[in-house]
Amino acid sequence: MASNSNHLSSSASPYAIELQGITRKFGTFTAVDHLSLQVKKGELFGFLGPNGAGKTTTINMMTTLLKPTEGNALVAGYDLMREDSLVRSRIGVVPQSFSLFEELTPIENLWYIGELYSMDSDTVKKRTEELLKIVTLYDKRDVKAGTFSGGMKQRLSVAAGLLHSPEILFMDEPTTGLDPQSRIALRELTQELNKLGMTVIYTTHDMDEADKLCDRIGIMDHGKLIAMGTSKELKALQGFSHRIELEMMARPTNIVANELKELAGADSVRVEGNVVELRVKSLPDGLIHKLSSYLSKRKLALGDFTISEPSLEEVFIGLTKKELRD
Ligand SMILES: Nc1ncnc2c1ncn2[C@@H]1O[C@H](COP(=O)(O)OP(=O)(O)OP(=O)(O)O)[C@@H](O)[C@H]1O
Ligand SMILES: [Mg+2]
Repeated sequence: MASNSNHLSSSASPYAIELQGITRKFGTFTAVDHLSLQVKKGELFGFLGPNGAGKTTTINMMTTLLKPTEGNALVAGYDLMREDSLVRSRIGVVPQSFSLFEELTPIENLWYIGELYSMDSDTVKKRTEELLKIVTLYDKRDVKAGTFSGGMKQRLSVAAGLLHSPEILFMDEPTTGLDPQSRIALRELTQELNKLGMTVIYTTHDMDEADKLCDRIGIMDHGKLIAMGTSKELKALQGFSHRIELEMMARPTNIVANELKELAGADSVRVEGNVVELRVKSLPDGLIHKLSSYLSKRKLALGDFTISEPSLEEVFIGLTKKELRD
C-alpha cells in the first residue's frame, strides 16, 4: 500500500471514509439504500455499477453536495453532517462533467480555484506549476480550456481538484466519453497520484477499468452494495479460478469429456459443439503436459486451447442475473 506521508490526516483512524448506512431518497424513490463501507487511507477504491446504480448520488453525498436522507459518514475523519466545511477542506472532486471555465486558461482556472479556497498566491503559483506538470498540461498553461480535448479537460479537472492538497480525491466516471488513448493516460495519472499517497474514490460502469485500476471494488445496483472486495475476491464468488477451453477437431464423447474433467481436477465440464469447457478452483501443476499426453494417447486432435479467469461482468451477471448495461 502506498505511503500517505504527504497527506496525513489529523485523525488516527486507518480509514479515509466510513459510510454508515448512508441513504438518499428522491421523493419515494431510493437512489442510495443504506450503504455501509470503509475505505482505507491510501486505497484506490472503485464504485462499479450500471447507469442509475446510485454512484453519483453516493459521491455527491460524500462530497457534501447532497444531504443524506438517512445515515451518516466520516470523511477524512470528519462528520459529514456536522463538519461539512471541514470535509470540503480535505477533499478534491473531479465531477462527472467538466465544470471549469472554458474561456479561461489552466493558470487562470487554477487561480480562480485558489481564490475559492482563500489560498495565498505564492502557494497557488507553486502548486499550479507542480500540478500542471503532473497532469502534462504545462505546455498548454496559457491556452483557453475551451479549445482542449476531453482528455485534456479531465486532466485539468484533476489538477483543479488537487490544488488545495486534499487527502481524498473523488473521480466520478472520469474516463467516460474519452478516446482510448486519453482513457489510458487518465488511468495512469490516477495510479500515479495513488502511488504518491492519495486516497482515490473512483466510479465507473466499465468493469474492465475497475478490474485493472482499483485495489478494491464495490459493486452497486439499484442503490445497494451487492458485493465488495478485490477483483480476485469478487471473481472467486463465481466459484472457479480458471476456465479451460479445449476446442477439438470433432465433437468429443461424454467419456472423453469426463476423463478430461478428471485429469484437470475440474468441478464442472460442459461440451458445446467441439468445445469442452472445464472450470477449476486452481490450475493443476503440469496441466498442459497431462492434457497433451492424454490427447495423443487417445489420438484426439486439438484445434485451440485457452485458459481464462472469470470476468467482473460474469460476477455481476451471476449476482444480478442481468447484463451490466453500458
Ligand atoms: N435529483 C434527482 N432527482 C430525482 N432522481 C434522481 C436525482 N438524481 C439522481 N436521481 C435518480 O437516482 C438514481 C441514481 O442516479 P445516479 O446519478 O446516482 O446514478 P449513477 O450510478 O451515477 O449513474 P450513471 O452511470 O448514469 O452516472 C437514478 O435512477 C436517477 O434517475
Ligand atoms: Mg453518475
